[in-house]
Amino acid sequence: MNTEHTRRRLVIGNWKMHGQRAANASLLDGLRANASAASACDLAVCVPFPYLDQARAGLQGGSIAWGAQDVSKHEQGAFTGEVSAAMLADFGCQWVLVGHSERRTLHGETDLLVAEKATAALAAGLTPVVCVGETLAEQEAGKTQEVIARQLAPVLALGAEQVGRVVLAYEPVWAIGTGRTATPEQAQAVHAGIRSQLAALGVPEVRILYGGSVKASNAASLFAMSDIDGALVGGASLVAEEFLRIAAA
Ligand code: 13P
Repeated sequence: MNTEHTRRRLVIGNWKMHGQRAANASLLDGLRANASAASACDLAVCVPFPYLDQARAGLQGGSIAWGAQDVSKHEQGAFTGEVSAAMLADFGCQWVLVGHSERRTLHGETDLLVAEKATAALAAGLTPVVCVGETLAEQEAGKTQEVIARQLAPVLALGAEQVGRVVLAYEPVWAIGTGRTATPEQAQAVHAGIRSQLAALGVPEVRILYGGSVKASNAASLFAMSDIDGALVGGASLVAEEFLRIAAA
């Protein structure tokens, strides 16, 4: 394994269902005003749909990109409540999360649907961040690699050209919002497994983020791992200073 880190780091904030216009304005201002401190990596925030235009207005022209947390697999039509990839592109989004564990668990999203959403995002020129991760029960049963391989299979089946344009995020469900982070070694082992699948497909340089209780205090040790290319940050992305400290790590 190459020990020198050649892939550009990427830190993405996932606001989840948090926000309110006044609070967003100060968060976005804080990010924008202080982002240069973290310019060694790519930065983005994925905000709730109603705030995409606020994110665009607050961040455009700066170094932080923005995106959404979900997207429809459909291009357009009678799909009440859904938001298309073209609509996200229309708001200047570069990024969209697909297959977050909260979508998989709470909304029954299947591995196939996640791959279809990734395809829709790519077709509109967005970069999908495909999230994978095992539950605590699966981890305790020693099924981590098997679960990740199953989740990734329909995505990898899209082929090297498409997969070469995605970002992957490993988020163990047991580490999300629990304060219980995977150890750097645990996360690295999973990332290395994913990396070898990517290498077999001919796209070893796809970025793989880690997510799950990432904070400024644990980011550096995670980022020291050879196959961890950045972070997908939930709770800590709601405080500008903390989020930028993670990026600076
Ligand atoms: P936390 O950072 O709050 O654990 O959330 C992780 C996550 O789900 C990011 O997508």
